[in-house]
Amino acid sequence: MNSKTNIDILITNASELLTCKSSNPQRPKIYKDLSDLGVINNGAIAVENGKIISVDTTENLIKLFNAKTTINAKDKVVMPGFVDCHTHAIFSGTRENEFLKKQEGISYLDILKQGGGILSTVEKTRKATKEELFQKAKKTLKRMLEYGTTTVEIKSGYGLTFEDEKKILEVALELEKIQPIDIIRTYLGAHTVPKDMIREDYIKEVITSLENIKPYAEFCDVFCEKGIFSVDETREILTYAKKLGFKLKLHSEQNNLLHSAELASELHAISADHLEHISDTGVEALAKNNVIGVLLPGVPFYLMEEKYANAKDMINKGVALAIASDFNPGSCPSYNMQLMISLACLKMKLLPSEAINAATINAAFAIDRAHEVGSLEVGKKADIIILDIENHNQLPYFFGINLVETVIKNGKIVF
Ligand code: NIG
Ligand code: FE
Repeated sequence: MNSKTNIDILITNASELLTCKSSNPQRPKIYKDLSDLGVINNGAIAVENGKIISVDTTENLIKLFNAKTTINAKDKVVMPGFVDCHTHAIFSGTRENEFLKKQEGISYLDILKQGGGILSTVEKTRKATKEELFQKAKKTLKRMLEYGTTTVEIKSGYGLTFEDEKKILEVALELEKIQPIDIIRTYLGAHTVPKDMIREDYIKEVITSLENIKPYAEFCDVFCEKGIFSVDETREILTYAKKLGFKLKLHSEQNNLLHSAELASELHAISADHLEHISDTGVEALAKNNVIGVLLPGVPFYLMEEKYANAKDMINKGVALAIASDFNPGSCPSYNMQLMISLACLKMKLLPSEAINAATINAAFAIDRAHEVGSLEVGKKADIIILDIENHNQLPYFFGINLVETVIKNGKIVF
């Protein structure tokens, strides 16, 4: 008699199965946790009904299960799908003209001051129909999936009127229904002051729009930056957002030190993102209130800037770090999370294990989804990727190459 349980998918023989399961059930916020990938050699994973039902060695699982589909992952790495917890993936147009300006040495903030940058994407995005934005972002999401991303956060911020911001968030909502990647929506009305408006008036408009935008977004974010929104303006917007039930994020300390990391801590934001110019007190403040530091190594790389976030220092001081792409048409036109992991190792000296945890489980924490994605654990969504590498150190070692061979989302093979 066969006493094995019938299941949908069984992946076997993984040279390394990276569970990304931390021994600390709370937010992993200490160095030891981040470097612990929970590796199972010759690992296997069982999937039934979209969920992970068992994670163990191949030897143990083949005794227990009969699968409709068995995938032999011999000489391959099996790990959770990437969680890209910071993107601006819905927009119209491209900005390769700025690429040339950048090469001449004109800075990101100067390009914006000249009416380019975010504002030029705003102009194009306002003109685009919902259908046009939908089709373009649908293509993006399809390719993200091929690169192993199974959950993505998407911010508005290229509309800067209530209707245009709503349009972007509605596109995100509709995309969620027709393709496999889970989408977390963030309202970033305070991305910059639109061309035709006085800043005080626009800040008031953002604040008054919060209530009506609430049904469309889970998070609220502000681009807190010199010449964009000050710490006090950011506090005003986010305090009201919090009152309305938004979870909070901040674009923080990217080009200048404004002490917005302290504000992120004061408001108990879920994450503070960028952090290239954070101070010691800012680092301590993040650690104290478990605000996740979301690092975006693709941005300084693409903007040809020398200064990267001091990831090692933050880890040593107890900040939980995540990595994301910041995919957007200006400062990082890439959503390749494998490349972001390589850059985090090469430019921020993270260990491969730390960077991988930062791009999976800690990224899931940064969008409040660690209970369902980001690690290979029983009960979580079966979001699993198989990479054509023999061990996890090869992930950052090869760079700019798509190593992903198979993508399983919610228990279905989608690539
Ligand atoms: O995260 N910093 C502000 N916003 C984006 C860039 C947006 C753009 O340039 O279009 C960022 O880098
Ligand atoms: Fe961003």
